[in-house]
Amino acid sequence: MEHTGKVGFVTGGSRGIGKEIAVQLAKHGADVAIADVLDSETQATAAELRDIGVKSTGYTCDVSSFDDVENVGKQVIEEYGRLDFLINNAGIVRDKLLLRMTPDDWDQVLSVNLTGVYNVVKVFSPYLLKQKQGKIVNISSVIGLIGNPGQANYAASKAGVIGLTRSLAKEFAPRGVTVNAVAPGFIETAMTESLKDDVREQMMNLIPLKKLGTVGDVANVVMFLLSDKADYVTGQVINCDGGMVMA
Ligand SMILES: NC(=O)c1ccc[n+]([C@@H]2O[C@H](COP(=O)([O-])OP(=O)(O)OC[C@H]3O[C@@H](n4cnc5c(N)ncnc54)[C@H](O)[C@@H]3O)[C@@H](O)[C@H]2O)c1
Repeated sequence: MEHTGKVGFVTGGSRGIGKEIAVQLAKHGADVAIADVLDSETQATAAELRDIGVKSTGYTCDVSSFDDVENVGKQVIEEYGRLDFLINNAGIVRDKLLLRMTPDDWDQVLSVNLTGVYNVVKVFSPYLLKQKQGKIVNISSVIGLIGNPGQANYAASKAGVIGLTRSLAKEFAPRGVTVNAVAPGFIETAMTESLKDDVREQMMNLIPLKKLGTVGDVANVVMFLLSDKADYVTGQVINCDGGMVMA
């Protein structure tokens, strides 16, 4: 129970990778606030977290809206009084080849995946900086490192998250706050379940470990970065991808 007495905030925490991160934080004793656009799922996940024995609240919040995030930020601090871990996990895809990609497809993905991280860090980081301790983990993607046809918007957003992570790591280091990113490869979640068999097989050929990852695989890396064992680690991007991208 290394995180007893600590508080985490996880965006996109109602399902998938974000939910698993929230569950693991709760199992290590942390109180966890989650924010997501999916109202009933968010409430259900917060209830599951309370069943683990910690305090948890689900906030319906669109991270791409600064006003939404600011409003939730005030409520979290009022309710929990402190914040130790910030996990920017909310993300979407709108995959299309560039010639078919509309300005709206571009804007939506950049607004949630990149501006959403800015919004959350802008609102919540003052509390971490004031405490002179805290850990931020941003969920990027290996696609932000290597690109992918049909995912120019997604790749740009996730590459942006890496630039943001490294800049913030340098800005926040003097105040004892670490900022790192995790870049998952292909993970079994709602985001990947609709993939056709032939695409799945092509992917498998790119993964040396010959299997898709699980939400637990990604959450384990996040938990390391949130632990005391990672106190001297900041500005890093840790790939969790079965060896797909080695650099
Ligand atoms: N699944 C993968 O293979 C994979 C690979 C690399 C990176 N990722 C990244 O991991 C993160 C989690 O993805 P996942 O696979 O669990 O997908 P998911 O779709 O299951 O979960 C994403 C969560 O974010 C929430 N969300 C979406 N838009 C939001 C918004 N505007 N405000 C608040 N919440 C919002 C969704 O409702 C959902 O609960 C994403 O950032 C994704 O890009 C996933």
